[in-house]
Formats: sequence, structure tokens, C-alpha cells
Amino acid sequence: MTRPYQKLVLICVHGKSCPQQGALEVCDAFRQQVTQLGIQDQVRVVKSGCLAQCGHGPMVAVEPSGEWFCAVTKEDVELLLKGPILADEPLPRLLYQGQKAGKNVLPRDRWAIVPPQDP
Ligand code: FES
Repeated sequence: MTRPYQKLVLICVHGKSCPQQGALEVCDAFRQQVTQLGIQDQVRVVKSGCLAQCGHGPMVAVEPSGEWFCAVTKEDVELLLKGPILADEPLPRLLYQGQKAGKNVLPRDRWAIVPPQDP
């Protein structure tokens, strides 16, 4: 059996940092773009729990390519879809390289994107 979707796009929207850094807007933008491009049967956008890279986000993981992207904004979504996700073209600016395997969490004062209304 073939996979039901060519690509899964997982967006961390439930952790401690990504939601404050705009992850829900990124998720909405992905869903809108996927609909506009008519690729709902190829790309499935999934809200994810914490990917344990807090502070680097919003984090986006793409399967089956295994590429992870960091500090993604809603303005980056079209580039991500038309580049790495649909055409397997690299996008080094957003490609995530964790410092080590497993959990990589930044302290709040080093977050990649500072929330607009930081309490
Ligand atoms: S909050 Fe997104 S990786 Fe933890």
C-alpha cells in the first residue's frame, strides 16, 4: 500500500515556547496554502505537541524527509511548501541543526523569536 499522504508537516503548537512564537499562525498559514494549492491529498498538516526543541521555534518537522525547520514564520510557509516540502529543494536559512541529539531547549532570553508581548 502506498502512503495516504506524500508529506506530513508537523507543527509544534502545544509546547511552552512555539505557541508564544507564532506557531498557530504558522499552522493556519500552512493549511491555507495547502488548500489554495489544491494539494490536500498530498500534504497533511498536523498540529504537534512539543518537539523538545523549545525556544528554537516555531518548529516544523517534515516526514518522510526527516527535515526539521526552526524559527518559521507565516511568511516562510509558501517558501517551505514550494521548496523543501514539494520540490525537495533545500532551504538552509530555516533548516534546523540541533546542537545534540535529543532534547535541545533554549532559555527564554535566547529564544529565536521573541514573542511580541513578552510578559
Ligand atoms: S514548544 Fe515547540 S519544541 Fe517545545
